[in-house]
Amino acid sequence: MVMERRDCDSLVLFGATGDLCYRKIYPALYQLVRRGVLTVPVVGVARQGWNLEQLASRVRDSLAAFVPGADAAVAARLIGLLRYVDGDYNQRATFDALRAALGPLTRPLLYLAIPPSMFAVVAEHLSAVLDSPAARIVVEKPFGRDLASARALNQTLHEHFPESSIFRIDHYLGKEAVQNILYFRFANSFLEPVLNRNFISSVQITMAETLGVAGRGRFYEEAGAIRDVLQNHLMQIVALLAMEPPVSAEGEPLRDEKVKVLKAIRPASPAELVRGQFAGYRGEPGVAPDSRVETFAAVTLHIDSWRWSGVPFYLRTGKRLPVTATEVVVDLRAPPARVFGELGPELPNHLRFRVGPDVAIAVGAHTKRPGPVMTGRDVELFAAEQPGEELDAYAVLISAALIGDTTHFARQDEVEAAWAIVDPLLSLAAPPIEYTPASWGPPQQEKLVQGPCGWHNPGATAQDWQRSCGRSG
Ligand code: BG6
Repeated sequence: MVMERRDCDSLVLFGATGDLCYRKIYPALYQLVRRGVLTVPVVGVARQGWNLEQLASRVRDSLAAFVPGADAAVAARLIGLLRYVDGDYNQRATFDALRAALGPLTRPLLYLAIPPSMFAVVAEHLSAVLDSPAARIVVEKPFGRDLASARALNQTLHEHFPESSIFRIDHYLGKEAVQNILYFRFANSFLEPVLNRNFISSVQITMAETLGVAGRGRFYEEAGAIRDVLQNHLMQIVALLAMEPPVSAEGEPLRDEKVKVLKAIRPASPAELVRGQFAGYRGEPGVAPDSRVETFAAVTLHIDSWRWSGVPFYLRTGKRLPVTATEVVVDLRAPPARVFGELGPELPNHLRFRVGPDVAIAVGAHTKRPGPVMTGRDVELFAAEQPGEELDAYAVLISAALIGDTTHFARQDEVEAAWAIVDPLLSLAAPPIEYTPASWGPPQQEKLVQGPCGWHNPGATAQDWQRSCGRSG
């Protein structure tokens, strides 16, 4: 049965005065207004004692900071959509005021950019004042702190909203390059025959950031690299890379396949984990002087499936690393015979997906070095290359939620399967290893990676990426 999907008639932002709205959501709304996608009222809700004019000035500040050269007419259109409700999330009166601000509107998109500890009370009040079957709710990560709390959170949300109305945002799923992994895999026929244990020796995913915790010390102390990035952004990339072909790339068939592969991943082992903390982290505002929270994590995952058995997936993420870049490198096995003897290529063929900040898909191959001797050299063939992202991930995802498209949102079972993988890594007694800022993290990570080449460190841009053995550190 095809369910009728109606567009939302309003957008309600809880946490409208907060950091996420300021940095990400208002710039995304600007893009949507500019494209004519967002025309409905936007109701900000917060407990700051603000008024509409203060909210409008916050939005203007956000655009000034994050949308260079913003068009004044578009900004004015966005400001014109704003409404504001001030109040405590624990008070029913706040939600009555919201109901009044919505007037005749009955199909709001309710965006919870607030701490998860507030989700239950907000969801309960919302369901009392709104006709919740027609409403949709967007929840920001973290979706819980571990498997048990994620289950409890899902249960709470389900008391008031059906799964089809819950949109769990993982902004990586809105990124052009991440969606491109899916497209490149399943829109082509040359790749699928080799993307399995017969041809692939290992897969690496690195998400590196030069920034530290950037004033978010208090938040980060509750999270750490495993909860903040590994459980969600990196696990989503693994799922898209490793899943079986879905019968359709939209909606449930896609999410079904992601869940299947996540469920086939063994719970991670602390013996295959390296946790690090950059020197100086403990001096950041909001961070405990004896903090054991990791700002770097590298781990090996194993997928017990027909396709991937025996192929290690190496994942790593860290703050204060030498570059900001996310890359996937898939190494292929060596040719079965050395036709060119000792002069033949040493390094494995590879596929490289550059996921950010720029976007690239490249194939590492060997060609003959010009000259009289049959000797080889490594080259990279670019299958696709483009600078930056066209539409911000938040804009992509908010516009999808407005029309009720859940395809690129995390489903309950997906989130729980990802927690089940990292759960054994979450409460380890051993402190993280200190590493020097602007290095590639603790050298102990090298012991995780089998084979001659170690970790592939992404360059600052796709162009300057070069292959070399053992160049980490
Ligand atoms: C967020 C994390 O989800 O993703 C941050 O909380 C991280 O710690 C950010 O910096 C990275 O996102 P992007 O889009 O800049 O790669």
